[in-house]
Amino acid sequence: MENLIGLVNRIQKACTALGDHGDTEGSGIGLPTLWEALPSVAVVGGQSSGKSSVLESFVGRDFLPRGSGIVTRRPLVLQLHKIDEGQVEYAEFLHLPKRRFTDFSLVRKEIEDETDRLTGRTKQISIQPIHLSIYSPNVVNLTLIDLPGLTKVAVEGQPDSIVQDIETMVRSYVEKPNCIILAISPANQDIATSDAMKLAKEVDPNGERTFGVLTKLDLMDKGTNALDVLEGRSFRLQHPWVGVVNRSQADINKNVDMILSRRKEREYFATSPDYSHLASKMGSEYLAKLLSQNLESVIKSRIPSITSLISKTIDELEAEMNQIGRPIAVDAGAQLYTILDLCRAFDRVFKEHLDGGRPGGDR
Ligand code: GDP
Ligand code: NA
Ligand code: MG
Repeated sequence: MENLIGLVNRIQKACTALGDHGDTEGSGIGLPTLWEALPSVAVVGGQSSGKSSVLESFVGRDFLPRGSGIVTRRPLVLQLHKIDEGQVEYAEFLHLPKRRFTDFSLVRKEIEDETDRLTGRTKQISIQPIHLSIYSPNVVNLTLIDLPGLTKVAVEGQPDSIVQDIETMVRSYVEKPNCIILAISPANQDIATSDAMKLAKEVDPNGERTFGVLTKLDLMDKGTNALDVLEGRSFRLQHPWVGVVNRSQADINKNVDMILSRRKEREYFATSPDYSHLASKMGSEYLAKLLSQNLESVIKSRIPSITSLISKTIDELEAEMNQIGRPIAVDAGAQLYTILDLCRAFDRVFKEHLDGGRPGGDR
C-alpha cells in the first residue's frame, strides 16, 4: 500500500497543477477546500533562528538559498521521499517535471531563480509556493512548508509593508486546524521573545499541534542551559520539545558535510553534561522521525473527512464536464480529466487504508 504521506503529496501536487493553493480562486471546483483539508507541517520562526539549517539537516544536503535579509520569499513545499540505500539521490521541481537534479547547488540556484521569476528583483514576497521533491535514502517520508522568516524591520530595498505581509502569509498557514506547526526558536535568545512561540501560542493556545524546536544550544552562555524549556517547564506544549545543534556559520564556510554534522550533533547530545539524559530524544534526526510519525497519524485521523471531500470534488468535476460536453479538446478539459482520474484513484486508496487500518470500520 502506498504510504499516506506520499499519497497526500500527490494530491497536493495535483491541486497545485490546477492552480489552486487554497488562497486563490482557481478553478472553483472545491480543490482549494481539498488542499486546505490536507494536513501539512509549516516551518515558522524569526529570521536567522535556524529554519534553513533544520531543513537541510532533515535532508542531509545543502540546498537552500542563503544570505542576509529575507531570503525565503515564496513558500517552499518540500516533499521528502525515502528511497532504498544505494539508489541515486535526486531532486525534482513541480515546475520542471522533466529535469532531475543530482547537483544540489543547482537546486539552490533554481529556488533562487524561481523565486525571482515571480517576485522580480523587487524583493517582495509571493504566496505562490514552489514545490520541490527530494528522493533520498537519508530522509524520512515527510512534507514541510518552509515560510519566510518573521521579522520586525524591513531591510534596505524592501518595502516597509513586507513585515506585515510576511506575518499575514505565515498566519494563513498556521491558523488552519490541520497545520502542524514546527516552531523554531534560538536557545541563545529569551524564549518569551520568540516570534515563533508568540504566533504559535496565538493560533494554538493549548499547544496541541505545535512542535517546539530549540536551535543553537551550543551558543548559549557558559554556565546556562535550556533544560527549563526542553523539559517543558517554561513553555508547555502537548508534544515534547526537541533541541538541535546545526552547523555554525564557520562550519558552513568550511563546507562541513551535512552527514558529518548530523554525527557531530549526536555526539554533542551524547556527551553533554546538561543534556545527555535526554540524548535519545534530541537532534534533527529524531525530530524528523517524530514529525513523520505525527504527520502520518494526523492524516490517518482525517481520512474520513478527506474522502468525503474527494467524493464531493468528483461529483463537481463530473457535473462541470457534463456541462462542457465531450470530447474536450482544450487544455482545461484535459486537466479536468486528469484530476478526475486522480481523485478516483485517491478515493480508492484512502478507502483501502480505512479498511486495512480499521477492521471495525466504525469511523
Ligand atoms: P534561518 O534564517 O531561520 O533560515 O536561519 P539559518 O538556518 O540560515 O541560520 C542562521 C545562522 O545561524 C547561520 O549562520 C547558521 O550557521 C547559524 N545556526 C543555525 N543553527 C545553529 C546552531 O544550532 N548552532 C550554531 N552554532 N549556529 C547555528
Ligand atoms: Na525567533
Ligand atoms: Mg532561511
